[in-house]
Amino acid sequence: MNPLAIPVLALAALLVVACTAPPRQLPSDGDAERGRAVAALAGGCGCHTPEHGPVGAGGVEIETPFGVFYSTNITGDPDAGIGAWTDDEIEGALRRGVLADGSVESPVMPYHLYAGMADRDVVDLIAWLRTLPPAETKNRPHEVGLPLPRTAFRFWRLLFAPSVTPPGVAPDSGVERGRYLVEHVSICGDCHTPRGVFGEPDHAMALAGMADGPLGEVPNVTPSEDGVGDWDEFDMVALLQDGMLPDMDNVQGKMAEVIDGIAGGPGYVDAPESDLQDIAAYLRTVPPK
Ligand code: HEC
Repeated sequence: MNPLAIPVLALAALLVVACTAPPRQLPSDGDAERGRAVAALAGGCGCHTPEHGPVGAGGVEIETPFGVFYSTNITGDPDAGIGAWTDDEIEGALRRGVLADGSVESPVMPYHLYAGMADRDVVDLIAWLRTLPPAETKNRPHEVGLPLPRTAFRFWRLLFAPSVTPPGVAPDSGVERGRYLVEHVSICGDCHTPRGVFGEPDHAMALAGMADGPLGEVPNVTPSEDGVGDWDEFDMVALLQDGMLPDMDNVQGKMAEVIDGIAGGPGYVDAPESDLQDIAAYLRTVPPK
């Protein structure tokens, strides 16, 4: 046998496994009211809302070192949005990075972080999404400088999307809930964790911020001298509720968007205060960078 055959076959087998992992059986009783709280904790899924609305209409430009991506319409419009998708299809796009036609999403959509979102939160979030007024905004193709982008996205998922078994129900309180929210719902690291050359999160520097990324300077939010070591939990909760820094300055840009929500959509400000306290408590426990 050709000596290359073994690695090639192994890779092919891996690809097959990665593509055919069966979707989980989701509960069918999503609660839109609870889903709004999940959406609030997820920063209102704000990348999908243009500055002047409508909520979820997509088309927001997301600049990356690999090109310009446009967020998609996640309202209930049956043609332009996801109104005709089944819950399983929405779950696939959210947690597994797979679209209904079997293609793999670009990791600009942080499915690799949402992968750990609890089933309960996923179905409630989907129920909330289904309440968004349909918007007719058509999706725009990404302007990506990659050859065979869909194949590249598939390899990215294979290499960098950890295989996660999400819980049925999220931890209900405390530091463990804070960790769950930071890692899988509020995804602080999607903006605050630096990335490697393939755009993959640099886990060794989790939440350490960066001097210069696509969002400009993003601060270190670990409990170190360069980070938020001198903040107490009250300072962090206050920031997540009203964007106010301990020195009375305000955060701007993307951070302000995920806090306030965009165009009337929910943001961290609308999340239960106990959840923001759990996030603050967890952030005190991460390794200082
Ligand atoms: C969509 C991107 C994004 C997400 C998601 C995000 N942040 Fe931020 N965050 C930023 C940016 C950008 C800034 C800088 C804002 C500025 O300079 O005014 C920032 C600023 C901050 C600051 C201010 C720190 C300082 O020293 O000034 C804190 C604290 C913070 N974020 C915590 C969090 C936490 C906790 C989460 C998750 C619950 C989170 N962020 C999620 C982008 C994000």
